[in-house]
Amino acid sequence: MNYKTVLVTGASAGFGLATARLLANNGYKVIALARREDKLKELSSLSDNIYPVAMDVTDAKAVETLVSSLPDGFKDIDVIVNNAGLALGVEKAQECSLENWKTMVDTNVLGVLNVTHTILPSLVKKNKGFIINLGSTAGSWPYVGGNVYGATKAFVEQFSRNLRTDVQGSAIKVTVIKPGLCSDTEFSYVRLNGDEKKVNDLYSGTKSILPEDIANTILWLLNNPAHVNVNEIEMMPVCQAYGGLKVVKDLDFTEKK
Ligand SMILES: NC(=O)c1ccc[n+]([C@@H]2O[C@H](COP(=O)([O-])OP(=O)(O)OC[C@H]3O[C@@H](n4cnc5c(N)ncnc54)[C@H](OP(=O)(O)O)[C@@H]3O)[C@@H](O)[C@H]2O)c1
Repeated sequence: MNYKTVLVTGASAGFGLATARLLANNGYKVIALARREDKLKELSSLSDNIYPVAMDVTDAKAVETLVSSLPDGFKDIDVIVNNAGLALGVEKAQECSLENWKTMVDTNVLGVLNVTHTILPSLVKKNKGFIINLGSTAGSWPYVGGNVYGATKAFVEQFSRNLRTDVQGSAIKVTVIKPGLCSDTEFSYVRLNGDEKKVNDLYSGTKSILPEDIANTILWLLNNPAHVNVNEIEMMPVCQAYGGLKVVKDLDFTEKK
């Protein structure tokens, strides 16, 4: 095992939950971080290898105190899985709520920065570590309603590339995973404001990527030889592909009063 102790953010649901479980079952010490304490307690009751931390990644001051609050056996973090994140809404930009935009930026951008800024210096100091960031195909490929969510994930992608450049010369690895359509997480419930019908319509007839697929990918990354850095992984279900370029015909250019 190249690494021992893994911080997984967003471990109360979806990819983070599946990753925390799989890594703990494979002998890793896992710090499972998210806001909902009850979900984390349920998770940590499954294994002594899981330590729950109820924390909001947007709270920079709280994140700064994270390491000092950890018990022996969990303090020496080797790996960060920056997974906590969310999308809010599918409206076109001109119809979106500014609050939703700010929450996505706070969580998906500032949350990743708060955690990385706190832990990265210790990884560089001990010349051992791995940062795995959850981007999205939405960070590379535009779609209607993807506006700020996609932009936050483009940030994660470019930040990962720049991090990798900054730590070159050390043994630290950085990977960004960019999934496409994934089911069996809370992501679309959150995005569609709990509208079960819309969520079911989105996934009906698809065989989407599952949280376990992401967890297996993360375990594989951790088990690669020390000299191999996988820069980016873009993964989609077989039923999904790029949309192509759209052309609107007979466009009306007259100004409306
Ligand atoms: N599902 C997809 O289709 C998909 C596709 C591409 C990329 N992604 C990305 O993959 C990551 C995980 O997605 P998922 O599908 O597993 O979503 P999910 O099931 O909704 O899980 C999101 C996790 O993030 C946590 N979280 C949200 N805001 C937080 C905050 N401020 N502080 C701490 N934790 C917070 C949530 O826990 P609490 O509510 O308890 O805090 C939850 O554990 C996200 O970054 C998402 O953008 C998802």
